[in-house]
Amino acid sequence: MRACYPGSFDPITLGHLDIIERAAPLCAHLTVAVIHNPSKTTLFTLAERQEMLTQQLSHLSNVSVDHFSGLLVDYVAQKEIRAVVRGLRDSSDAPIELQMARLNREMNSHCETLLLASAGKYSHVSSSFVREIARLGGPIEQLVTPRVAALVQQKLKSKEAS
Ligand code: PNS
Repeated sequence: MRACYPGSFDPITLGHLDIIERAAPLCAHLTVAVIHNPSKTTLFTLAERQEMLTQQLSHLSNVSVDHFSGLLVDYVAQKEIRAVVRGLRDSSDAPIELQMARLNREMNSHCETLLLASAGKYSHVSSSFVREIARLGGPIEQLVTPRVAALVQQKLKSKEAS
């Protein structure tokens, strides 16, 4: 089965990485699909997020990185993808994830969503808190890989300088 794992990945966290590593063996191919939404401000550009993901996922032979804009169901239909993988961190993720899963299936009856329970140790991890903690000078080494932590620090420094 071909599946995709869509998201903003601004930046990829250890929680994302865990879901990808666990989902990959369940699929023939897993595409990590980065959303390109020009009306939303992100810390990293689309190209930077794609490059970061490609680096972080190079050990997974059946995983590739792509991007999409517009509706996820249109992307899924165009790429002949059968399922969307999403991680569920806790009960507060459930309402929105269920709503998206149901809406996506209503728009494309072939689009199933597989919700994977995140590992308990990553249930508090989110890209937005990684950005906020780093911006405020706190440690992010428990939340992202060392390489991603360095990229976040570097990006914040270059933003401060400009
Ligand atoms: O990492 P995120 O920000 O939680 O990912 C959310 C994402 C990209 C999966 C979601 O916003 C999405 O699918 N956007 C594409 C537009 C779309 O299809 N919207 C209708 C959802 S029911």
